[in-house]
Amino acid sequence: MAPWWKEGIIYQIYPRSFADSNGDGVGDLPGITAHLDYLQELGVDGLWLSPIYPSPMKDFGYDISDYRSIDPVFGTMADFEELVREAHARGIRVILDMVMNHTSDQHPWFEASRSSKDNPRRDWYLWRPGKDGGPPNNWLSVFGGSAWEKDERTGEYYLHLFHTSQPDLNWRNPEVTAAMMDIWRFWLDKGVDGFRLDVAHFLVKDAGLPDNPSKFGLTPYTRQRHEHHINLAETHAVWKEFRKLLDTYPDRMAVAEADLDAVGAEGYYGSGDDELHLTFNFGLFWRRWRASEVQRVVVDWNQRIPSAGWPCWVLSNHDFGRHVSRWAAGTHTDARARVAAALLLTLRGTPFLYYGEELAMRRAYIPRAEIVDPPGLRYWPLYLGRDGLRTPMQWTPGPTAGFSTGKPWVRVGPEAERLNVEVESKDPDSVLSWYRTLIRLRRETPALKLGSFEPWFEKPRSVMAYTREHEGQSVAVALNFSRFSSGLNLRGGTYTVLASTHREAGPELSGKLTLAGNEAVVLLLKR
Ligand code: NOJ
Repeated sequence: MAPWWKEGIIYQIYPRSFADSNGDGVGDLPGITAHLDYLQELGVDGLWLSPIYPSPMKDFGYDISDYRSIDPVFGTMADFEELVREAHARGIRVILDMVMNHTSDQHPWFEASRSSKDNPRRDWYLWRPGKDGGPPNNWLSVFGGSAWEKDERTGEYYLHLFHTSQPDLNWRNPEVTAAMMDIWRFWLDKGVDGFRLDVAHFLVKDAGLPDNPSKFGLTPYTRQRHEHHINLAETHAVWKEFRKLLDTYPDRMAVAEADLDAVGAEGYYGSGDDELHLTFNFGLFWRRWRASEVQRVVVDWNQRIPSAGWPCWVLSNHDFGRHVSRWAAGTHTDARARVAAALLLTLRGTPFLYYGEELAMRRAYIPRAEIVDPPGLRYWPLYLGRDGLRTPMQWTPGPTAGFSTGKPWVRVGPEAERLNVEVESKDPDSVLSWYRTLIRLRRETPALKLGSFEPWFEKPRSVMAYTREHEGQSVAVALNFSRFSSGLNLRGGTYTVLASTHREAGPELSGKLTLAGNEAVVLLLKR
């Protein structure tokens, strides 16, 4: 039997925004537990929770001040244990977000480290004296400005590749590795099923900390090649050690947030079973809604990922946006959301869904005065920030979309009166109903879960088509990216319609299929 993370569908929850059980305007763990029936009915196999640990929330949880506990805004350890128990009772796994490149500056490790040059924790972070009256080298923070911050207490600089309150750990120090391994054991012993590893390609830095070379780019950050702190061989070695630990527990998994586009096709797969199980592929984030562009990315990565590795796909997340807004088409937006869903849920590779995408939730415009995301605050209006992708999950019509009885920490997204669980559940033609159909189909159809992937090259330009095959079962998928109808010659015989955005399941088809505009169809080849 294939492991669950290979066959399954994983659903990302941004806990601040999913469901608020106590009316403080911020989502929490009891809120998630209360909605597990919804997630079970939707048919997902695993949840990835963005960070829930104690945090000053400068980067909304990606700045951790205690790795072994729960931030009170999200609840208690008892709430977490109940969530895991209740999820497992429904056959749903729970994956935690693990941020290991950096901690919060309020983590006791950093508080000790900054206290004096001879503190035993000094070398847990990257401290250097300044150079020529400035920082030790030219590295830049992803969130803007120098990656170095001078600390008045000792007069030295510490490295922070993100916010100034997120100091980078020193992964050349074996004590750091040992401490983090203990943290993994702590959560694995509690029954968590795996980890999503934040900026997995950043961990180890070039020991000499040399300047980054320059290159052509449009922003200061892209005008540097970040070759001394991204994707070093030593970072792969760290993950191999952690994999050994993970393998001492049955059925666990880890997914690297290390975009294949940035780190190359070998990703963090190692030789298939000795590094991480999955590496995110953000290839679809950067593509336009064109069959040719999307097909090229999918074909390319299916070929390039190591043969022992397994792809995974994602259309939206808490950093990059809501794909329906990226690919919006005025009155056709919901129709595109359906075609995109059919793509994600029929590709070869584990699909990751971002909460609310099953409702076709849009990106919200957040006025300057309401922005709280650090890069949004820094770069607005060039960059609008990430708050608009983290709006409350839309459960019901009404002012807070059923998310909270209080004032949500971020405003509710557009069209929530129409795009919500209550309304869409009653409508067989809603985007939610279509997601349910596709997820059910994927679960029931081995070729969709585990099958090979073979693209069709003889097809109209606006159509993407492919075959998935497994143990004698052959399924064809055709996606019309255009709003105009298009003819497609079906390969190899007679098919039965398994699902379509525009036609009933059941009928047989062969020869030339006329796809309606924005139609997605999944077909089973008759043997
Ligand atoms: C990637 C996370 O997804 C993002 O939200 C965060 O800001 C950075 N890593 C820093 O932890």
